[in-house]
Amino acid sequence: MEEKKEVTAREAGWQHVHDYFGRTSVDRGHFHTFTGSTNVQTVVAGGHAHEYANVTRVAENHVHRMSGISSVQMPVMMGHVHRLQGTTTVDDNHSHVYDVYTGLPRAPRNVRRGRFFGPFSARAEGAEAREEPRPRRRLRAKKPEAGEKP
Ligand SMILES: [Fe+2]
Ligand SMILES: [Fe+2]
Repeated sequence: MEEKKEVTAREAGWQHVHDYFGRTSVDRGHFHTFTGSTNVQTVVAGGHAHEYANVTRVAENHVHRMSGISSVQMPVMMGHVHRLQGTTTVDDNHSHVYDVYTGLPRAPRNVRRGRFFGPFSARAEGAEAREEPRPRRRLRAKKPEAGEKP
Protein backbone atom coordinates (compact mmCIF):
# COMPACT_ATOMS: atom_id res chain seq x y z
CA MET A 1 0.00 0.00 0.00
CA GLU A 2 2.76 2.39 1.03
CA GLU A 3 4.80 1.26 -1.96
CA LYS A 4 2.00 2.01 -4.40
CA LYS A 5 1.47 5.53 -3.06
CA GLU A 6 5.13 6.36 -3.56
CA VAL A 7 5.16 5.18 -7.16
CA THR A 8 2.12 7.22 -8.14
CA ALA A 9 3.58 10.37 -6.56
CA ARG A 10 6.77 9.84 -8.50
CA GLU A 11 5.03 9.25 -11.80
CA ALA A 12 2.82 12.29 -11.39
CA GLY A 13 5.81 14.53 -10.78
CA TRP A 14 8.10 13.25 -13.50
CA GLN A 15 7.74 15.33 -16.62
CA HIS A 16 9.25 13.84 -19.75
CA VAL A 17 9.46 14.34 -23.48
CA HIS A 18 10.19 12.05 -26.43
CA ASP A 19 12.42 12.56 -29.45
CA TYR A 20 11.29 11.29 -32.82
CA PHE A 21 12.43 11.19 -36.40
CA GLY A 22 11.12 9.75 -39.62
CA ARG A 23 10.17 10.20 -43.18
CA THR A 24 6.90 11.21 -44.80
CA SER A 25 5.10 9.32 -47.54
CA VAL A 26 6.17 9.81 -51.13
CA ASP A 27 3.89 12.24 -52.99
CA ARG A 28 4.68 14.09 -56.21
CA GLY A 29 7.83 12.01 -56.45
CA HIS A 30 9.53 13.10 -53.23
CA PHE A 31 9.44 12.68 -49.46
CA HIS A 32 10.65 14.78 -46.53
CA THR A 33 12.59 13.68 -43.48
CA PHE A 34 11.96 15.24 -40.09
CA THR A 35 13.10 15.18 -36.48
CA GLY A 36 11.57 16.71 -33.40
CA SER A 37 10.92 16.51 -29.71
CA THR A 38 7.49 16.43 -28.14
CA ASN A 39 6.19 18.72 -25.44
CA VAL A 40 5.89 17.39 -21.89
CA GLN A 41 2.97 15.08 -21.31
CA THR A 42 -0.64 16.02 -20.74
CA VAL A 43 -3.10 13.73 -19.00
CA VAL A 44 -5.68 12.21 -21.34
CA ALA A 45 -8.12 9.30 -21.07
CA GLY A 46 -6.12 6.10 -20.80
CA GLY A 47 -2.86 7.70 -19.68
CA HIS A 48 -0.91 10.59 -21.15
CA ALA A 49 -0.11 12.05 -24.55
CA HIS A 50 2.30 14.64 -25.94
CA GLU A 51 1.76 17.57 -28.26
CA TYR A 52 4.33 17.92 -31.01
CA ALA A 53 5.10 20.35 -33.80
CA ASN A 54 7.96 20.53 -36.27
CA VAL A 55 8.90 21.54 -39.78
CA THR A 56 10.12 18.90 -42.21
CA ARG A 57 13.42 19.19 -44.00
CA VAL A 58 13.52 20.73 -47.46
CA ALA A 59 12.78 18.62 -50.53
CA GLU A 60 12.02 20.01 -53.99
CA ASN A 61 12.47 23.52 -52.61
CA HIS A 62 9.65 23.42 -50.05
CA VAL A 63 8.88 22.27 -46.52
CA HIS A 64 5.71 21.19 -44.71
CA ARG A 65 4.67 21.65 -41.11
CA MET A 66 3.52 18.80 -38.88
CA SER A 67 1.71 19.16 -35.58
CA GLY A 68 -0.77 17.29 -33.46
CA ILE A 69 -1.07 15.17 -30.37
CA SER A 70 0.45 11.74 -29.98
CA SER A 71 -1.30 8.52 -29.11
CA VAL A 72 -1.44 7.40 -25.50
CA GLN A 73 1.63 5.64 -24.17
CA MET A 74 2.52 2.13 -25.33
CA PRO A 75 4.59 0.18 -22.80
CA VAL A 76 7.83 -1.27 -24.14
CA MET A 77 10.74 -2.94 -22.42
CA MET A 78 12.59 0.15 -21.13
CA GLY A 79 9.67 2.53 -20.73
CA HIS A 80 7.06 3.56 -23.24
CA VAL A 81 6.69 5.12 -26.68
CA HIS A 82 3.95 6.96 -28.52
CA ARG A 83 2.72 6.84 -32.08
CA LEU A 84 2.57 10.02 -34.18
CA GLN A 85 0.43 9.89 -37.27
CA GLY A 86 -1.27 12.48 -39.41
CA THR A 87 -1.02 14.64 -42.47
CA THR A 88 1.36 17.52 -43.06
CA THR A 89 0.22 20.98 -44.09
CA VAL A 90 -0.46 21.61 -47.76
CA ASP A 91 2.49 23.37 -49.40
CA ASP A 92 3.26 23.50 -53.10
CA ASN A 93 -0.26 22.09 -53.70
CA HIS A 94 0.28 18.76 -51.96
CA SER A 95 0.69 17.20 -48.54
CA HIS A 96 2.23 14.01 -47.16
CA VAL A 97 1.19 11.53 -44.50
CA TYR A 98 3.44 10.21 -41.74
CA ASP A 99 3.29 7.45 -39.16
CA VAL A 100 6.19 7.01 -36.73
CA TYR A 101 6.88 5.91 -33.20
CA THR A 102 8.75 8.15 -30.76
CA GLY A 103 11.81 7.14 -28.80
CA LEU A 104 11.85 6.38 -25.10
CA PRO A 105 11.00 9.05 -22.52
CA ARG A 106 13.73 11.46 -21.49
CA ALA A 107 13.88 14.36 -19.07
CA PRO A 108 13.16 17.78 -20.59
CA ARG A 109 16.17 20.06 -20.83
CA ASN A 110 16.80 23.16 -18.78
CA VAL A 111 14.53 22.08 -15.94
CA ARG A 112 15.68 21.79 -12.35
CA ARG A 113 14.65 18.59 -10.67
CA GLY A 114 15.54 16.96 -7.42
CA ARG A 115 18.67 14.89 -7.48
CA PHE A 116 17.23 12.02 -5.53
CA PHE A 117 13.84 10.44 -6.13
CA GLY A 118 13.91 8.00 -3.26
CA PRO A 119 11.21 7.65 -0.62
CA PHE A 120 12.75 10.45 1.48
CA SER A 121 12.80 13.12 -1.20
CA ALA A 122 10.51 16.12 -0.87
CA ARG A 123 8.66 15.07 -4.00
CA ALA A 124 7.62 11.75 -2.56
CA GLU A 125 6.19 13.57 0.47
CA GLY A 126 3.73 15.30 -1.82
CA ALA A 127 5.50 18.65 -2.01
CA GLU A 128 4.81 20.48 -5.22
CA ALA A 129 7.44 20.14 -7.91
CA ARG A 130 9.93 22.95 -8.37
CA GLU A 131 10.37 23.53 -12.07
CA GLU A 132 12.75 26.45 -12.40
CA PRO A 133 15.17 27.18 -15.20
CA ARG A 134 18.63 26.01 -14.37
CA PRO A 135 20.92 28.93 -13.42
CA ARG A 136 23.55 29.84 -15.96
CA ARG A 137 26.97 28.49 -15.24
CA ARG A 138 29.70 31.06 -14.76
CA LEU A 139 32.23 30.45 -17.50
CA ARG A 140 35.06 32.60 -16.17
CA ALA A 141 36.44 32.95 -12.68
CA LYS A 142 35.03 35.92 -10.75
CA LYS A 143 37.27 38.97 -10.73
CA PRO A 144 38.61 39.77 -7.24
CA GLU A 145 36.84 42.72 -5.67
CA ALA A 146 38.76 45.83 -4.58
CA GLY A 147 40.46 45.14 -1.30
CA GLU A 148 39.85 41.42 -1.55
CA LYS A 149 42.78 39.05 -1.87
CA PRO A 150 42.49 36.79 -4.89
FE1 LIG B 1 5.30 9.77 -22.82
FE1 LIG C 1 6.42 17.88 -50.23
